[in-house]
Amino acid sequence: MQLHQFSRRDMLKLSSTAAVIGFFAPLFHISPVQATENLNKKALVVYFSMPETDTPHNMTREEENSTVVIDGKVLGNTQYVAQLIQEMTGGDIFRIVPQTPYPTDHRTLVDLAKEEQNENARPVIAGTVNLAAYDTIFLGYPNWWGDMPMILYTFLEQYDFSGKTIIPFCTHGGSGFSRTIQTMQGKQPNATVIRDGYALSRSRMERAPSGVAEWLKEVGLKK
Ligand SMILES: Cc1cc2nc3c(=O)[nH]c(=O)nc-3n(C[C@H](O)[C@H](O)[C@H](O)COP(=O)(O)O)c2cc1C
Repeated sequence: MQLHQFSRRDMLKLSSTAAVIGFFAPLFHISPVQATENLNKKALVVYFSMPETDTPHNMTREEENSTVVIDGKVLGNTQYVAQLIQEMTGGDIFRIVPQTPYPTDHRTLVDLAKEEQNENARPVIAGTVNLAAYDTIFLGYPNWWGDMPMILYTFLEQYDFSGKTIIPFCTHGGSGFSRTIQTMQGKQPNATVIRDGYALSRSRMERAPSGVAEWLKEVGLKK
């Protein structure tokens, strides 16, 4: 391959392009340097997921509903989508884990989730994440009782997303996002929350790889 030699004309072209960018940048509140930094920053995928079993054998219907088995490994539905997003964007990943583990028994979990919602609880999250390193945060969760699980409220109140972009995704049993995207924007008024999030029904999990790829292209974040 021949290396391109910069001629004097090329240099002039380059410097006049830089001058044009520099001239217009203040109009858009960006500097060329800042724009480059944003391009180089990785996205972060944050998710909560509650697979109701960790063994792929003899699953009950409820356990099947909340899991995907990939290469013999059991993943929660939202966990699977989160991993696909991470792979396809080359981002980092952080799982929201409750300090007190949730029960895996379906009935007990459903009742506890309702109780937490009624009490407007804020379950404590084990571990922390440094958001400063990221401008774009994918935030994923299962729809629980027509809302985000209460631990998502803990997360959204614990961190400041000002100036950042939040891209929601969820898995569900028919309710889609419910009003969770609006709730999220209300919790983080100084963040940009993308309305066009990705919601996938638990009965359509086989569509996840192509669905996530298409959606990431639409939001302009496919690697
Ligand atoms: C406690 C609980 C409450 C749920 N409530 C709803 C609901 O209101 N609407 C809905 O569509 N799905 C509901 N579901 C189904 C989950 O959203 C769905 O199974 C999801 O894919 C689970 O994701 P996960 O495996 O990542 O936890 C509920 C599931 C649980 C465990």
